[in-house]
Amino acid sequence: MIDIPHIVAHRGASIEAPENTIAAFRVAGARGAKWIECDVTLSADDKCVLIHDDTLERTTNGTGPIHHSDFDTLRNLDAGGWFSDIYKGERIPSLKDTLETLYFMDMGANLEIKPSGCDPVRLCEEVIKELRTSKTVPPILISSFDDTAVAHMRKHMPDLPCGWLLETLPKNWKAEYACLGASAIHIDHKALTPVSAAEIVDAGVPLVCYTINDVERAKELFSWGVTSVITDDPAKLLMAIPRRPF
Ligand code: G3P
Ligand code: MG
Repeated sequence: MIDIPHIVAHRGASIEAPENTIAAFRVAGARGAKWIECDVTLSADDKCVLIHDDTLERTTNGTGPIHHSDFDTLRNLDAGGWFSDIYKGERIPSLKDTLETLYFMDMGANLEIKPSGCDPVRLCEEVIKELRTSKTVPPILISSFDDTAVAHMRKHMPDLPCGWLLETLPKNWKAEYACLGASAIHIDHKALTPVSAAEIVDAGVPLVCYTINDVERAKELFSWGVTSVITDDPAKLLMAIPRRPF
């Protein structure tokens, strides 16, 4: 079973640096986070890039859907200036650069496969190609809201752990989880109750929650048996909760 750290930095240390950039991953590492969570999708020419939204407007100086721009165009955008002048010129990272950075920082990643309108299978194929050809692959836990992506990753990279990413817990979650062959459940913390958390934990399933920036809430979730919390503010949570407390 994969050892997921108790605190994972959501899109990097996204409270301090522009989300899903190498800068945000470096800040997360500097604050003591062992892992980051990040979102991967495809450019128009099928290159794996890290960005959360379907479109460029919120986190870059570009416009339009991600999948309408090729890799070179995306790489020339400013993905940091929207956050702060300090980060002006920060780029949209490629998956390759991200893997290399994390590897040399001795960090790991929860890599969320986010088709955002592109073909999930095509995206998975490109992610798999990258993971197979890179010489610098850090510990990786895949996750996705897209069941086709989870199934594809399980089939073609069965040794790679893969989390089932959920907004709410389906009633028949045990059967669906077994059918997908996933290795963890990742769920919005607001959808969790002490009873549903106990059900998951008692079934021996690692339980990852997003996105928690409040220390007391994180402590409560750990008391329910939650394995890991994903946070925008790893510095604050790690300061208050340096180790998994329960
Ligand atoms: O993977 C946890 C979380 O990142 C899922 O939601 O929208 O932040 O990618 P989102
Ligand atoms: Mg995500």
